[in-house]
Amino acid sequence: MSHYFENDMNLKSNVRELIYKYNSSFFTFLSDNGVFSKRNIDYGSKLLLESYLKENITNVKVLDVGCGYGFIGIVISVITNSYVDMIDINKRAIHLTKRNIKKYKSFNGNAYVSDAYSEIKNKYNVIITNPPIRVGKIKLLEILEGAFDHLEKDGVLYFVIRKDQGALSIKKILEEKHKVEIINKDKGYFIIKVNN
Ligand SMILES: C[S@@+](CC[C@H](N)C(=O)[O-])C[C@H]1O[C@@H](n2cnc3c(N)ncnc32)[C@H](O)[C@@H]1O
Repeated sequence: MSHYFENDMNLKSNVRELIYKYNSSFFTFLSDNGVFSKRNIDYGSKLLLESYLKENITNVKVLDVGCGYGFIGIVISVITNSYVDMIDINKRAIHLTKRNIKKYKSFNGNAYVSDAYSEIKNKYNVIITNPPIRVGKIKLLEILEGAFDHLEKDGVLYFVIRKDQGALSIKKILEEKHKVEIINKDKGYFIIKVNN
């Protein structure tokens, strides 16, 4: 069986369009077989995005890790006038993200293939992620703890994780070195903010 985080070049394409509305703004995203949440925008991703937007952070440099087809990063760039880089290990996801970016003239940023932070040279004010869980705890912690090597001194990490995916134990690990806050909770999803 093929997983959404694998690069399966033989997987047949079946591109579809998903719609997202934020206040009076409509966004559309091309999705395809072989990417995460291909039929519907993920509830946890929406909760993370909308919790972040409530923080009213504008004009900053953001990195969306594990961007899929670009939902979180594209909306952040357009709504908050921020520069957003988006990375994913999945080539098809990045191909879709690049096609989705083209629909938004006000989008500012880039999308490229990267295994966690392997291709990241810059520092960011914000790192945001709906991280891959099925890749295992070691890779998950590489993404979450690794964020602090790519954040500015006062930078902030935002992520979503479900309680049954170990939200509280991950929070505890991060608390050993950082100030950690749960800024929203719904349907078993926790939105976690971590200060550098
Ligand atoms: C839970 S999905 C979130 C996707 C997207 N942000 C969304 O909200 O629809 C996690 C994403 O992480 C990507 N991923 C898995 N392992 C990765 C790695 N080692 N480095 C970067 N991205 C990875 C997957 O391909 C997937 O797109």
